[in-house]
Amino acid sequence: MPALDLKAFFKNVSDEAILDANDILRPYDQLVPIQCLGETIHLPNNNSVWRGLQFWGLMTGEVRIDFSLFCIAGTCQRCKTYIKKPGMASREPMLACQTTVEPGLEIMKLAQGFTYKGRQR
Ligand code: FES
Repeated sequence: MPALDLKAFFKNVSDEAILDANDILRPYDQLVPIQCLGETIHLPNNNSVWRGLQFWGLMTGEVRIDFSLFCIAGTCQRCKTYIKKPGMASREPMLACQTTVEPGLEIMKLAQGFTYKGRQR
């Protein structure tokens, strides 16, 4: 069970969304700041970018995912996301479901099936 108080971090999140998030996540103990299309979001450490984006969607409503497209197991290849990790000169295609969240990671382009509406709510 995560030690983090998600209600303190996400002021308006429902108990149901927190339960859903904890069902899909591996154990984590911090929310890591990363960049998603130029904006800072916070994803749980020890989890994939895929699950992290699902988490952010549950917490904020800013991410939508067409679940029917994805295996979340590294086989369908449909979650190819353009990511720039710290120290990398340029972005590279990576599978979001096989890439672990790390500080400073930048998502430059999402895979088809992911929608990020950012702060334009
Ligand atoms: S969701 Fe199928 S490879 Fe990532």
